Amino acid sequence: MSVDLKNVWYVAAMSGEVAEKPFSRTICGTPVALYRSASGALAAVHDRCPHRFVPLSMGSVKGEALVCGYHGLAFAADGACVENPQGAVTKSLTIRSFTVQERYGLIWIWMGDADLAALTPIPDFSLIDDAALRPQWGYIHSKAHFELMTDNILDLSHIEFLHAGTLGTEKIRDAKTASVVEGRTVFSHRTVDDEILTPFLDRSFETGGRPVTRTLSVRWDPPGLMLLTVAVNPAGPEQALRETYNMHFMTPETATTAHYFWVGTRRYGPDDPERDRLFRAGLENAFLTEDKPMIEAQQRSLGSAELLDLGPALFKGDAAAIQARRILDEMRRAEAAASRPAS
Ligand code: FES
Ligand SMILES: [Fe+2]
Repeated sequence: MSVDLKNVWYVAAMSGEVAEKPFSRTICGTPVALYRSASGALAAVHDRCPHRFVPLSMGSVKGEALVCGYHGLAFAADGACVENPQGAVTKSLTIRSFTVQERYGLIWIWMGDADLAALTPIPDFSLIDDAALRPQWGYIHSKAHFELMTDNILDLSHIEFLHAGTLGTEKIRDAKTASVVEGRTVFSHRTVDDEILTPFLDRSFETGGRPVTRTLSVRWDPPGLMLLTVAVNPAGPEQALRETYNMHFMTPETATTAHYFWVGTRRYGPDDPERDRLFRAGLENAFLTEDKPMIEAQQRSLGSAELLDLGPALFKGDAAAIQARRILDEMRRAEAAASRPAS
């Protein structure tokens, strides 16, 4: 199994998940306690007390400190122990802390060198901040490595089969496809002409059963930060473009499990909460009942093997996913080289 990158931004949580009561989530195999102090400052520390190794998330926030619920050790946001009811406050009681940032309604975490975090911008997901696009949110826990999930979005040829009747039609196989790499960003495009959408999509995009041109464009940034733009243009005199933006964020939990955060937005149609509900339910239904079981079964089938080590058959549609995997592998090599002591 590949080693998780440390010097990248991961989504740790949705903003609303983290309040004053500490919240625990395992990221890259490390349990992290996320909380907001009394002044509202966001903090993330190793969710393990150095005394008896209980989760600190079972404790509570007092002022600016996180206090262990077992014997009362208290820690500042930088991990320094600030109070020890049992004895001296020493350096050896310091716990790991992590750089966190709140952006686009999400809490982003940097598991590596804090100095490098400042040099690495979070990719632009400002579409989420546009309330007029009525963002719909979801979180799914997945028993699969996060790269199997990013492969899935980067190769949407699967929607014809896995999402037959919900998101895909037989026209998908005739799509014109292209993938482009710019720096460490991978773009994957798919254009489908003359497609009659499925009933769910036809309702959602208001295409009235007319044939449409549908483009599906994915932007991927390391490690698993993706923006999928779906543009639908119906044939005929009324050619108003309808666009949806689906953001997918995959974060490794362990070597074989991941956190999957998604946000769906749309730039067309009336301001209608019932429509938003149907849009959200349709997406969640596809992700939960179609993608998730298949990818989890793929993980079980792979066991602890790396996908590419097994020599999979590769098709044209796999190009973008392979490019993304190559970029991650290069980054892993660079990170490993940088962390090796000079001999
Ligand atoms: S286990 Fe945390 S103070 Fe004892
Ligand atoms: Fe899918």
